[in-house]
Amino acid sequence: MREIKRIACVGAGYVGGPTMSVIAQKNPAITITVVDLNQSRIDAWNDPDLNNLPIYEPGLDAVVGEARGRNLFFSTEVDKAIAEADMIFISVNTPTKTYGKGKGQAADLKYIELCARQIARVAKDDKIVVEKSTLPVRTAATLKSILDNTGNGVNFHILSNPEFLAEGTAIPDLHHPDRVLIGGEDQEAIEALVQIYEAWVPRERILTTNLWSSELSKLVANAFLAQRVSSINAISELCEVTGANVDEVSRAIGYDSRIGSKFLKASVGFGGSCFQKDILNLVYIARSYNLTAVADYWEQVILLNDHQKERFAQHIIKTMYNTVNGKKIVFLGWAFKKDTNDTRESAAIYVADHLLEEEAEIVVYDPKVSAEQIYRDLDYLGTRSPSENRRLLTVVSDPYEALAEAHAVAILTEWDEFKHYDWSKVKGKMKKPSFVFDGRKILNRKELEDLGFQYYAIGE
Ligand code: NAD
Ligand code: UDX
Repeated sequence: MREIKRIACVGAGYVGGPTMSVIAQKNPAITITVVDLNQSRIDAWNDPDLNNLPIYEPGLDAVVGEARGRNLFFSTEVDKAIAEADMIFISVNTPTKTYGKGKGQAADLKYIELCARQIARVAKDDKIVVEKSTLPVRTAATLKSILDNTGNGVNFHILSNPEFLAEGTAIPDLHHPDRVLIGGEDQEAIEALVQIYEAWVPRERILTTNLWSSELSKLVANAFLAQRVSSINAISELCEVTGANVDEVSRAIGYDSRIGSKFLKASVGFGGSCFQKDILNLVYIARSYNLTAVADYWEQVILLNDHQKERFAQHIIKTMYNTVNGKKIVFLGWAFKKDTNDTRESAAIYVADHLLEEEAEIVVYDPKVSAEQIYRDLDYLGTRSPSENRRLLTVVSDPYEALAEAHAVAILTEWDEFKHYDWSKVKGKMKKPSFVFDGRKILNRKELEDLGFQYYAIGE
């Protein structure tokens, strides 16, 4: 079997960066080059100060610190890395299409195709090409066609190896994966990739399937996970009108080993770059095969999530006497979950948008998200002009400063530090009545109510 000595990974993002760092850490004999077109991203990966890596992930700095310069390299020289590699991972972004056929649903595969054409043009010897990006089922057939038709007559073996890491826990997820999934047709190519993972993952956790099962399983895994969140969020609304408590319901049903306790935390709505994009993609694929009932079923997961975000915003408005015009509402958190600086599809963006429509004055504090990113997120929606967004919303770096004279606090991300604030001090700074809208259910109702807050938490 062919020994893999050099790997290239195209795409140095949230997946390519951490995944290759761990593969390099565990396989010191393999040289891995992660390439990207984005010069500033690569510069940040190469920054001698490990606090300046382009993505924030607990534990990532130590892994990069161990492997970088030894057998892990970051570069913008894409052709060179491809030419030298035995195995090439494609880890570029596959966002939802914003134009043309499938707009708003289908995955945009333009970056994948560009990547395939570049590999075909550059490769002068046989390569194993690994799909690390999340792709619609049957994309490997497209890739194979491009590679074989535009290449230099060399052999390409395509594998599907979707990534299951979650942001904020990427390093432990990579170190101890529930499973590694490898789909392919060529046994030798599959074995070559199995060997790389076997450096640290027990063999029984490395599953091999055909290409299409592997591609589809990734979409299905995200759909099932998101479905759990929408299911419990649907129940949270029912809890609020019946006197049941959603945490108690989660606990009661989660004790059933067939249901399981994980991923049953009611929230202001799921965010992140994957769930919505991948379900929309699944829905699009089902519709393209005329499977209307299947498509409608999964689409409901997204509709419920949109409802949950809007419901939270509407509840804030209603509770604050039906007007938030000119009222200062402090957002604690903007990231889509704790321990990441990623804001893609964060519920905070949509809740802010609703409240800004009502002319609320929003002040945001997030420990890891920059003001530029927050304004980019809002401007991207195009609901109002960039100058309006800057007039109505400000971003601060000191949470206590933000809370002075505030009418309300809304918790959008479950950062641990919010639990440990001096809430008695906060109460002293805020206007009365002082409202807290806990979209993550991280604070203690009794403690807050004893301090005199009007406390609302999802599903109670
Ligand atoms: P990302 O946007 O953070 O990174 C993608 C990178 O690819 C960008 O830096 C971009 O500049 C680069 N790129 C695009 N085209 C290129 C080209 N032709 N040549 C060189 N570089 C190019 O995206 P991500 O979050 O890392 O996601 C990548 C893929 O992994 C997606 O398909 C996503 O669905 C999937 N995925 C993401 C996660 C996650 O948690 N973010 C988890 C599992 C799977
Ligand atoms: C997800 C999948 O978990 C991961 O396997 C896949 O590779 C990429 O997509 P990620 O989006 O990074 O990972 O984070 P995840 O922990 O799944 O959370 C997604 C969203 O759901 C977050 O907004 C989170 O706050 C929310 N969530 C999660 C809940 O509201 N309740 C829960 O019980 C779990």
